[in-house]
Amino acid sequence: MSNTKLQREIKQLLKEKNGILLAHNYQRDEIQELADLAGDSLELSMEAAKTDCEIIVFCGVRFMAESASILSPGKTVIMPRLDAGCPMADMISAEALAEKRKKIPEATVVTYVNSSAEAKAGSDICCTSANAIRVVNSVQSDTVLMTPDKNLAQYTSKFTHKKVVWWEGYCPTHDGLKVEEVLQTKGKHPGALFVAHPECTPEVLELADHICSTSGMYEYARKTDNEDFIIGTEMGILYRLRKDNPEKRFILASESLICPDMKLTTLEGVFEAVVEMKNVVKVPESVGALAKIALDRMLAVPRD
Ligand code: 13P
Ligand code: SF4
Repeated sequence: MSNTKLQREIKQLLKEKNGILLAHNYQRDEIQELADLAGDSLELSMEAAKTDCEIIVFCGVRFMAESASILSPGKTVIMPRLDAGCPMADMISAEALAEKRKKIPEATVVTYVNSSAEAKAGSDICCTSANAIRVVNSVQSDTVLMTPDKNLAQYTSKFTHKKVVWWEGYCPTHDGLKVEEVLQTKGKHPGALFVAHPECTPEVLELADHICSTSGMYEYARKTDNEDFIIGTEMGILYRLRKDNPEKRFILASESLICPDMKLTTLEGVFEAVVEMKNVVKVPESVGALAKIALDRMLAVPRD
């Protein structure tokens, strides 16, 4: 079946089954094109929490689908590829977190949504790349333990008076971006603005003109009067940046900015999952209830 035919069939099935398709900004172009909402982790969580649809088809990675299921426990959440994970999320376990908590009992634990439901359940509040600074500044304690991303934590620590202790996790895709690669790309495109995701290393972030979540990049590109932008995040972001700003140029900082897990989901896979209603993501109730507290606290932090 052609992409257009598959998209049409999936849309029809979703309509009949009262389903919504949510996709992360790193998904393949044809999936973003089909989605009812393509967004960053915060936007997708907010939509999952408020949708009236009975079925949520989640095109992203496992922690995102788990969050949708936790936030909407009555809904059926389907993930076309159950094996689409996030290596950073696997860098922290509930047991290791509990051990660390004992060593710094005065700290509020702020856990990035890129984590398992179990890690969220053992945390006080969650955050995303779009709200990490606001979340950290919203908590009462003077010390926070940020998990699992050391780069997001170090970046956030620059915008708070609190003591920030961090976990040693990282995203292999973003952490792998090298200063030399950015400098080389900048050299080839003088005048281009460099926009980076806070999962990049502190050394790379030093070179950035702007640092933000994936959806923050759409806003920055739209509002900024510059022709060329160097992009320091996963290549899936290019689809909408280019579609929405045809007169501007977007250059990936490095060809290696690809998240293999995000690329596992295909239109064929979505079609199959929706036809068969397979790959339902369910979080055990006891874990989900605790993780929901941490996610709900995050969603209650006012936006600027
Ligand atoms: P955003 O929340 O900024 O979309 O980031 C999610 C992610 O996994 C980045 O690697
Ligand atoms: Fe995880 Fe990195 Fe992929 Fe985001 S880009 S889902 S943090 S591995």
